[in-house]
Amino acid sequence: MTNAKSIAEHWGPGDVFGSIIAALAKMSKPLEGLRIEDLAPVDHFHARGFPATVELADKLPINSGQRILDIGCGLGGPARYMADRFRCRVNGIDITPAFVDAANKLTGLLRMQAQVEIIHGDGHQLPYPDEFFDGAYTQHVTMNVADRPKFFGEAYRVLKPGAFFALTEHGLGPRAEPRHPVPWSADGSSAFLVTPAETRALLENAGFRDVVVESTGPKYLAGYKAMIERAEKGALPALGLHLLMGETALQKMRNAARNIEEGRTHPVQVVCRKRG
Ligand SMILES: C[S@@+](CC[C@H](N)C(=O)[O-])C[C@H]1O[C@@H](n2cnc3c(N)ncnc32)[C@H](O)[C@@H]1O
Repeated sequence: MTNAKSIAEHWGPGDVFGSIIAALAKMSKPLEGLRIEDLAPVDHFHARGFPATVELADKLPINSGQRILDIGCGLGGPARYMADRFRCRVNGIDITPAFVDAANKLTGLLRMQAQVEIIHGDGHQLPYPDEFFDGAYTQHVTMNVADRPKFFGEAYRVLKPGAFFALTEHGLGPRAEPRHPVPWSADGSSAFLVTPAETRALLENAGFRDVVVESTGPKYLAGYKAMIERAEKGALPALGLHLLMGETALQKMRNAARNIEEGRTHPVQVVCRKRG
């Protein structure tokens, strides 16, 4: 079902935590007293980074003390932001061991272990009881999800009745056939994009209701273009998402932007809720 090994090798091939620590040292940033905002340039690993997490959070009905799930949490930046902003508890799960390792070390540096717990695992098979969470989100993960009925079914199972589910993704555009490499795939392998209409239908088939789909392409495009411009001038900061995208980072960003412009992808943000 999931080619976990190749997905993990794609996302986290090396010492992710070490490269973040090296970048902080280059910036003369002491680890003692590190704040959530200091890590934001690198630990929100999706198009537009931190501002996109804030905009998603603005749409989520999270209350203090609730338990929220982040599926494919990456380095845990969004999980720590949600925990801090809403005074909630966040469980994160991710298929890439190097990200889980880095996520937990970063959570430790920020002394947030009481609020944020991150484990290694696959969103197709969640190790949590039924009706356990007050809400769940998955940002830029589903591009690698081979079996969406199973993945959405698992999210549905672990949510309490009426709880929200949100996702952001690069959906498939009308022209299809995305150019590669892109941030989520070097050559099209382990890439399973579907159109926004298909995502809506899959969520509804899983039982979700009140599905609101918002196109995010123009905003993503502006974000990619700003990063590409900085990279071309050799002006990327020491700490940034390029650290996580390897030697082909610039090519991946250029293709991600062109895919949107050419209608090959159609990025969306989706919010819905479990039948209550
Ligand atoms: C673009 S990163 C996004 C990370 C995080 N959601 C964020 O926005 O900062 C995609 C993440 O999805 C994870 N992933 C992909 N397929 C997964 C699966 N089936 N189960 C859990 N995590 C998965 C990858 O390991 C990677 O960390």
